[in-house]
Amino acid sequence: MDNFYIVRFFDDWKVKRVSYLDHVLTRLVNMSGVQKNLRTAHAIDVILSRIRGGREYQFASSGDMTNVEQRMNLYHLVRQVLAYNVEGDLVEMGCNEGATSVLIARILKDNNSEKKLFLFDSFEGLPSPSLVDGVSFKIGDLVTTEDNVRANFRKHNLPLPEIHKGWFKDTIQWLPEKICFAYLDGDFYDSILDSLVGVYPRMSKGAICLIDDYCDPGVNPNGLNRLPGVKKACDDFFADKPEKIEFIYSGHYPHGYFRKL
Ligand SMILES: C[S@@+](CC[C@H](N)C(=O)[O-])C[C@H]1O[C@@H](n2cnc3c(N)ncnc32)[C@H](O)[C@@H]1O
Repeated sequence: MDNFYIVRFFDDWKVKRVSYLDHVLTRLVNMSGVQKNLRTAHAIDVILSRIRGGREYQFASSGDMTNVEQRMNLYHLVRQVLAYNVEGDLVEMGCNEGATSVLIARILKDNNSEKKLFLFDSFEGLPSPSLVDGVSFKIGDLVTTEDNVRANFRKHNLPLPEIHKGWFKDTIQWLPEKICFAYLDGDFYDSILDSLVGVYPRMSKGAICLIDDYCDPGVNPNGLNRLPGVKKACDDFFADKPEKIEFIYSGHYPHGYFRKL
């Protein structure tokens, strides 16, 4: 029932599956080891995307940032914190145009939740990547505006969230005191680390944090490991914490999560 709901409302039933050819190509690329060189990995990604017909997954009506498996995971994880009545509000670090924020807001609305959604973004695009971030994105990519986020919410007839513009390290002071769910999507090592520093101490017991682009090739060899700084930031942050990031299947586009102990 829940997954039918997700596909109907978030995807219009037009889900495009990854083909057999795609599976074979991905396996060959992974076996060859070229993914270790990020520049080559990116070039191969572009070629594979052309072979797939240019479109790797079905978009949600709110935007093109996630595949359907990621949206299903998001849905069930948000529902969990609502069902268990975990204390606190919801936050997204790196909301861009609100493609995922709209989905979170819709889940809140459909569950008659009074919890609030807080969104954070520079709205100046990505900061400078560090050496561990690879070559998938560069400074200034993904620039957008707060007005685009608001327009996306109005288009979907959803109450407006609280939006905080600026670099995470300067805006984490505006995070809610208690957090029940966090979505981290800052792409780069420093952005994920800054997000964890702000979000982790505010998470209630049982709260969930979903981290986009977290890829552990040892566990998920089919995941596209395009933003290796994300896992590195998590490894460094959790080195002295009791929680560990759990891999959760989401097709080619990886993510992981942890539950606050
Ligand atoms: C991949 S996009 C987010 C997509 C969005 N979560 C979604 O699912 O629709 C990454 C966003 O993070 C923002 N960002 C990355 N690092 C940041 C930082 N250190 N401070 C503020 N914003 C940052 C970028 O501006 C960009 O809009």
